[in-house]
Amino acid sequence: MEVTVAKTAGFCFGVKRAVDTVYKTAEEAEGKVYTFGPIIHNDQVVNDLAEKGVQVIRSEEELEQLTEGTVIIRSHGVPRRIQEKIASQGLNCIDATCPFVKKIHRIVDEEGQKGHTVIIAGDANHPEVEGICGWASGPVYVVSNAEELQNIPISAQTFVCFVAQTTFNYKKFEELVEILYKKFYDSTVINTVCNATEERQAEARRIAAASDAMLVIGGKHSSNTQKLFEICKESCDNTYFIETLVDLDFKPFQSFCHVGITAGASTPNKIIEEVQKNVRIKF
Ligand code: F3S
Repeated sequence: MEVTVAKTAGFCFGVKRAVDTVYKTAEEAEGKVYTFGPIIHNDQVVNDLAEKGVQVIRSEEELEQLTEGTVIIRSHGVPRRIQEKIASQGLNCIDATCPFVKKIHRIVDEEGQKGHTVIIAGDANHPEVEGICGWASGPVYVVSNAEELQNIPISAQTFVCFVAQTTFNYKKFEELVEILYKKFYDSTVINTVCNATEERQAEARRIAAASDAMLVIGGKHSSNTQKLFEICKESCDNTYFIETLVDLDFKPFQSFCHVGITAGASTPNKIIEEVQKNVRIKF
């Protein structure tokens, strides 16, 4: 049996960098290590880190109780206020914000200083967007669709800088840009959509189309893994959604010659490796 594992399966660059930072810090740091929010939405990783002594801070109030130790900022980033709070409490801060997100922080800060208004295409309740808003040094608005953009209560003369949450759908962003150009006389658009998700989906589609069976590995509640599953299922009828090796039923695999494997954005490499090794060994 031939097995193809997607190169883009699992963690993107920014998440891998943040998770590696936590493991490294847990080994090297003296004193307690905390992450501000769970480092990724994967219980296995969070529990594994907890065993190594890494604790999750779940709120600003919890942060305020700390007097010593190291706090790691995850790839989503945090508002400037939180970063300053960590420093002012005398805690050691390690910033593992993804550089692509950090770039947006810089943009919204600089644009605000120039007196420009920032509009972000994204989900206002997502931690990444809350973080971005927290670096704006001028007026900032978040819109998730055309209607919200149309109804923004600012005049057509306002100079606007338009950016996006890194995981925003690029096609939707382009549609919003068209509306923006009609609504405001003066605007700059900076495409800050990260293509890690798109590349993962495109590769999954390619592999699924060339395979007899496809394994999609990821958390049951992970929406990006669910999306990967749907994409693969369109091109390959025998697509299976598994969380770990335990969920894998090997019976139907006797008749397959070519199996493809991909995984959602918060699936650790260890789980992907384990699945692929077992599929190769058994057949
Ligand atoms: Fe990942 Fe950073 Fe892109 S966290 S999805 S590489 S913006």
